[in-house]
Amino acid sequence: MSKPVMQKVESKQLEVADKGQTVEAEERLIIRGGKPLTGSVKIAGAKNSVLKMMAAAILSGDVCVLKNVPDLTDVHMMAEVIRQLGAKVTVADNEVTIDTTNLTNFEASYELVSQFRASFVVLGPLLARAGQAKVALPGGCAIGERRIDLHERGLKLLGAEINIEHGYVNAKAARLIGSRIYLDKPSHGATENIMMAAVNAEGQTIIENAAQEPEIVDLAEFINAMGGKISGAGTYQIVIDGVSTADMHGAVASTMPDRLEAGTFMFAAIATQGDVLLEGVDAHLLYSVISKMSDMGAEVSILAPDSIRVRARNGIRATDITTQPYPGFPTDLQAQAMAVLSIAEGTSIVTETIYENRFMQVAELRRMGADIVVTGNSAVVKGMPKLMGAEVRSSDLRASAALVIAGLAAAQGVTEVTGLHHLDRGYDHLESKLRSLGADIYRR
Ligand code: EPZ
Repeated sequence: MSKPVMQKVESKQLEVADKGQTVEAEERLIIRGGKPLTGSVKIAGAKNSVLKMMAAAILSGDVCVLKNVPDLTDVHMMAEVIRQLGAKVTVADNEVTIDTTNLTNFEASYELVSQFRASFVVLGPLLARAGQAKVALPGGCAIGERRIDLHERGLKLLGAEINIEHGYVNAKAARLIGSRIYLDKPSHGATENIMMAAVNAEGQTIIENAAQEPEIVDLAEFINAMGGKISGAGTYQIVIDGVSTADMHGAVASTMPDRLEAGTFMFAAIATQGDVLLEGVDAHLLYSVISKMSDMGAEVSILAPDSIRVRARNGIRATDITTQPYPGFPTDLQAQAMAVLSIAEGTSIVTETIYENRFMQVAELRRMGADIVVTGNSAVVKGMPKLMGAEVRSSDLRASAALVIAGLAAAQGVTEVTGLHHLDRGYDHLESKLRSLGADIYRR
């Protein structure tokens, strides 16, 4: 693993020949589109699973090893957050080793949390293990307000005292006591934070209307391997029977495949009318996505539980998509699907129900010739015969993937995508994987 911790906007210094001055040229992806993607690609471990598993290692008070870890800047940043707590963390060769035997600090700083909000999930395990935590409030981000009220309410119901002061959540609990907690909405992160806090609570905790994302199942299985007692993860009701901290111990686990990376490659294959075999996937986690791809006219075959072939030969048909919590169509693939629909035959309506502001890709896709009009939380996408290459800027992780897909599909010209720090947070070697499928894409 080679990416630096806390990656800022990538840049290179360029000489301005006539003045001898230097200007910063931002790193970019250069894409010459119009080539069908063909071949096979191996899917990496899931970002949204491994980050939470790294935080959960705090519960063990011991040494944990995570395998099949993707090479992402967010993984390095989470390692840094846990190091700041006093743990020893090594990240190398798709493996992370975390020794949380001696924690010396219970604070996650604003400097790190503000850069990637997934770090907020150290709150639950710190409370469980140490009875105290001070974690910076993550704040909003490009895609929405992203409140934490459900985390706060759930932890309070377990008996924690929570004060929000000077931009930090201060949590304290002499003891946590199991409780029945109903979530007003199935928040992925709140389910995880509450589930982890409850691991060492006295008695039983039941989370009702829990989020059902498969990454939560991965997390619960890892916690159980460390000595926890969680059942029902992956359903709307999760039951956590509290165990003593002394009964927790280290464990080895492998991260599940990244269903969002898989979906991104599948949409790229469809956009370019390609033929791609995905290996190392979990096909049954992608049914809502496969169903929409079939509506678009793609042929998607599940060859084995861990292998999917996607072929597109007869153009792309319009279809309507509404994002939903899992098992519905994921918000994290909405932008990529929209890039494909922008060259479909007919008009599609894409409705975003999870975030208030997740159409940041629209203005950039329009620069490439797409015809998209946003009204409220819906976008009307009138398919165009082709897109044209243009300079575009990423606003967030999934929007950047959508722009790459649009660039790969663009029948004319060159696309230059900037804002690559977003992409590097969540995609493991995206451009080299795309190049192995025949794409003309490189980073400069
Ligand atoms: C996780 O975010 C993922 N991130 C997101 O993926 C994903 O989009 C999201 O779940 C939904 O699946 C990680 O796992 C690191 P939420 P999370 O709590 O946990 C509102 C990506 O691209 N809400 O389910 O933060 C919130 O504002 C990322 O990989 C409250 O109102 O998502 C949002 O509108 C982006 N109060 C909605 O719920 C709360 O207390 C869903 O949020 C918590 C959330």
